[in-house]
Amino acid sequence: MTTQPEHLDLPRIDLRGFVSPVQVLPRLGDHLGLEVWCKRDDLGSVGLAGNKVRKLEAELAHARALGATHIVTEGSRHSNATRAAAAAAAALGLRCTLVLCHDEPKEPVGNLLLDALFGADLRLVGDVSWVELAGLTTDVVRELEVAGERVHRLPIGSATGRGAASFAHAYLEATDQLAAHGVAPRTIVHASSGGSTHAGLVLGRTLRGQATRILGVVVAGEVYEDVPGTYLRLANEGADLVAPGLRVTGSDLELTQDYLGEGYGEAAPGVTEAIDLMARLEGIVVDPVYTAKAVAAIIDLAGRGLIEGPVLFWHTGGYHSMFDPSLAARVWANLPRLRDLRL
Ligand SMILES: Cc1ncc(COP(=O)(O)O)c(C=O)c1O
Repeated sequence: MTTQPEHLDLPRIDLRGFVSPVQVLPRLGDHLGLEVWCKRDDLGSVGLAGNKVRKLEAELAHARALGATHIVTEGSRHSNATRAAAAAAAALGLRCTLVLCHDEPKEPVGNLLLDALFGADLRLVGDVSWVELAGLTTDVVRELEVAGERVHRLPIGSATGRGAASFAHAYLEATDQLAAHGVAPRTIVHASSGGSTHAGLVLGRTLRGQATRILGVVVAGEVYEDVPGTYLRLANEGADLVAPGLRVTGSDLELTQDYLGEGYGEAAPGVTEAIDLMARLEGIVVDPVYTAKAVAAIIDLAGRGLIEGPVLFWHTGGYHSMFDPSLAARVWANLPRLRDLRL
């Protein structure tokens, strides 16, 4: 178990072994005319990198306390959450079953390859909606329980109050790190889908009584019927765990769908430029499914004078999808400096 900053009392297992750094992005900042920093939650081992690992640290501490033997979760074939869950289960000696929806192609690459390598039992259920996927996962949980397994189910993206509480902790961690550099961020921007990252950051800000703008860039529109309502529930379930009595309200949340483009994992305006600038100016990979959409928001809002610095781009990980052939081919085809290369 790790020690907690301040009054946050959240049991966690350390899956990372280090505190992810913050760094300034000077060349991107010059390009945009804005002070930009980055929280490097993308760093870690191939399995245990990205924002999901923080949530798993709290969720799996809870699962262990309950005596779970088997972790079940769901997601798409690109899912970083399922890959991180499979890696964490392997690291902790737990069994893991992943229920994965997918469009074609479904070659064993990217996160799907890693899911399998980490020893997870894969249930590939085809091109179903998120709601159908949740139902199919419930069926798998029942089947395993009938077979005698003690299952701990992680909802999609580890979207739980405990996951949100782990991100409230992350907010305190990052703002302390920036304060040590004399920086107080005016805006935090991150990719958002299952919601516990946003819920938790907002909860952390509420704990600190700060006014930092926190902008969640939605990358998967249809995850819930009521997206803001679900995010709010997650934030307040997190509050119940670490700061009983504290309340987050609907107006504390800020989500934008302006950078979602054609949908989850699909093309969106600004994504190629975001990947290009981050790679060429800072040597940092952002992926086309999640984080490039957040960076696209920063670039666009900076161009229109609609964002105040210092900005903290919260890098939530996910470079793995760059190694998915269909996504890699799209990046290559859309970026002239690559497209024109002779291989
Ligand atoms: C790389 C990456 N960024 C952002 C997110 C969104 O996080 P959350 O589910 O907490 O909204 C995910 C979730 O899958 C992710 O994998």
